[in-house]
Amino acid sequence: AFTPRVFSGIQPSGDLHLGNYLGALKRFADAQNQGVQSIYCMVDQHAITVWQEPAKLRQATRELAAGFIASGIDPKKSILFNQSQVAEHAQLGWVFNCVARMGWMKRMTQFKDKAGKNAENASLGLFGYPALMAADILIYHATHVPVGEDQKQHIELTRDIAAKFNHDYGVDFFPMTEPVIEGAATRVMSLRDGSKKMSKSDPSEASRINMTDDADTIASKIRKAKTDPDALPSEAEGLKDRPEARNLVNIYAGLADMTVAEVLAENGGQQFSAFKPRLSDLAVAKLAPISTEMARLMTQPDEIDAILRHGASQAREIAAPILAKTYDIVGM
Ligand code: ADP
Ligand code: NA
Repeated sequence: AFTPRVFSGIQPSGDLHLGNYLGALKRFADAQNQGVQSIYCMVDQHAITVWQEPAKLRQATRELAAGFIASGIDPKKSILFNQSQVAEHAQLGWVFNCVARMGWMKRMTQFKDKAGKNAENASLGLFGYPALMAADILIYHATHVPVGEDQKQHIELTRDIAAKFNHDYGVDFFPMTEPVIEGAATRVMSLRDGSKKMSKSDPSEASRINMTDDADTIASKIRKAKTDPDALPSEAEGLKDRPEARNLVNIYAGLADMTVAEVLAENGGQQFSAFKPRLSDLAVAKLAPISTEMARLMTQPDEIDAILRHGASQAREIAAPILAKTYDIVGM
């Protein structure tokens, strides 16, 4: 039996958005506060699978760390660090490159989405990134990974890699990690297109609410969010073929810590012209204190760097013996 341990990561590849908050950061803080050992990582090595301006990457990594802390991840309770500062990730990643099969990687839908039509020109890192992600998780023997729904397939791959390693070497060394995909907002959609997830990489700025948007920007983006002409239903069933309406209700539920049923019981029958202002007020109330705290932390980059350095040394204490044992199993 493996001791319960939570791991997750976010790429410092652009502005944090509401999807990252509801699907990841807010839930990381909840996990930490339930008392399970939690390890959270800025995955800069994943970020560079696509071109990043070096100065921007350095800045985005600090800003992401500020986003974690401002969202309630307490570096005294959780381990918070930068992936590239713990070399064991990449070292175990290489072993997993040799365990994972080409055919498995080719099935990853996120690679197809991210590489687009130009897959031949995508980096080898972008193709192989789920094997490094498996290493990020398994170098800590993490048992639970809170993520958004878009990462489900990668966690399944992590389990496949763990199972093949255990089988090939006749050991029971790596755990079968469980994805934790819970709550109303595990897949926040674009505000402009209900069929696309809200993402850092969407070129449309109006498609997402950034965690650092001011109150007016949040209100304006929600006001312009695509909806349909119907009123809110009083039960979830009524949102079935209404992706944009469902998305706004999911966001409300996620921000308010309510179920969709509870939101609809309270707001059913309302027009979006009435519901949208309530949603923006709620979003501003939840995000404003976080962005204020992020801005304050960003005035103290040395403090952020010190927190990440300390986190890396804590992470290494767990990772180093697991890597050593892996090498021993492999015969290296
Ligand atoms: P992005 O997809 O915006 O580049 P990341 O890949 O760094 O962000 O994802 C960081 C975390 O945020 C992951 O757990 C991911 O599942 C979650 N996440 C990203 N986008 C969304 C979304 N639209 N809704 C819910 N969770 C999301
Ligand atoms: Na993602």
